[in-house]
Amino acid sequence: MSIRIIRKGNDPVLRQIAKPVPRVTPAVHKLLDDMAQTMYDAEGIGLAANQIGILKRLIVIDVGDGLVELINPEIVEMSGSQVGPEGCLSLPGIHGDVERASHVKLRAWNRQEETVEYEADGMFARCIQHEVDHLNGILFTDYLKPSEIVYENRQGSDTR
Ligand code: NI
Repeated sequence: MSIRIIRKGNDPVLRQIAKPVPRVTPAVHKLLDDMAQTMYDAEGIGLAANQIGILKRLIVIDVGDGLVELINPEIVEMSGSQVGPEGCLSLPGIHGDVERASHVKLRAWNRQEETVEYEADGMFARCIQHEVDHLNGILFTDYLKPSEIVYENRQGSDTR
C-alpha cells in the first residue's frame, strides 16, 4: 500500500467525470488499498479516486463504523433533507453548510464484483453524496454562495 498525493483546489482532475470500472482486477484492489491508506493518513472520512488523480468510479468511506469500499456506486433513491457542515480533503481550510438528502439507497460492487446495497442516513448518507459528486466533477462549494464559505485559520475539518 502507498499513500497517494491528494489533488487540491483548481486541479482539473477534480472537475472531470470518472469512468466506470469494467472489471475488478488486482490493480483495482491495490487502488482501493491506497485510497484507504491515503484517506486515513489525511484523517478524512471519505475519498473518491478523482482526488488522487484517477478517473475511475471508486470511493472509500469510513464515518466511524469501519471501511466501506464502493466500486461503480449508484445512488438509486434519495429522500428527506438535512443541512450540515462539510469540508473536503481537496479544499483544505474551508467548510460550509450544505443541504443533502437525509436518506439514500446506494448500489455498488464489492471487491468480488458482487452487487451490494446500502441504506444510509445522517453522516453516512451525506458522505456518500459528497463522494459520488466527486466522481461527477462536483465539489461541495458548488452548492454554496461565496458568502456561505467559511475560511478556517487551522485545518480542522477537511475530512472528505
Ligand atoms: Ni471531498
